[in-house]
Amino acid sequence: MNGEEKFRLGVLGSGKGSNFVAIADAIAAGEVRADVAVVLSDVESAGILEQARTRNLLAHFIAPGKFRTKLDEDAERAYVSALCEAKVDLIVLAGFMRVLKGDFLRAFEGRIVNIHPSLLPSFPGLEAWKQALDHGVKVTGCTVHFVDAGVDSGPIIGQQTVPVLDDDTSATLHGRIQQAEHELYPACVAALARREVSVQGRRVIWRNH
Ligand code: GRF
Repeated sequence: MNGEEKFRLGVLGSGKGSNFVAIADAIAAGEVRADVAVVLSDVESAGILEQARTRNLLAHFIAPGKFRTKLDEDAERAYVSALCEAKVDLIVLAGFMRVLKGDFLRAFEGRIVNIHPSLLPSFPGLEAWKQALDHGVKVTGCTVHFVDAGVDSGPIIGQQTVPVLDDDTSATLHGRIQQAEHELYPACVAALARREVSVQGRRVIWRNH
């Protein structure tokens, strides 16, 4: 990559795409030196595709295949080839509701990041804000991490805390966590695009932090 070329992002999401929008807005504001090369979704009607198309970005639905929680082999191949074709430097999971496996992980080793709505390693998995509420913690938050073969288990790049209030419902707490996500994710992607982030075992080190 020479000085002129921007860092290329491939964004994968299944939902409304508010984290994608936060990253796209940060790029437009000059806060993240990167381009969104392609947006892919396993849900044809996902808001994230609509958001991408509104911004004139390449956006594709790719059918996930026969499984409910992961991509089948054909789908995995189709995702990998779309991302390779778009020449992505980093894959940004933004609410992608399927666990990535084998060939996908091998194709992009160390180049896949995810955002999770809790302070990992607490509350991995689904509805982490509800898990936090049910557990009774006073502080929760969000985590950006590298993706490995486990569920929400890769090295942690960044975290932001969020208070849990006495009158919180699932919806109010999730909303507060999402606001934090929209600050944390662009900041982490910006640092990755500046190549300021390195991994030493489980520890992720930020240069100039
Ligand atoms: C976020 O809360 C994120 O933590 C989780 O999925 C949600 C995606 O939301 N992984 P959005 O589609 O970015 O609005």
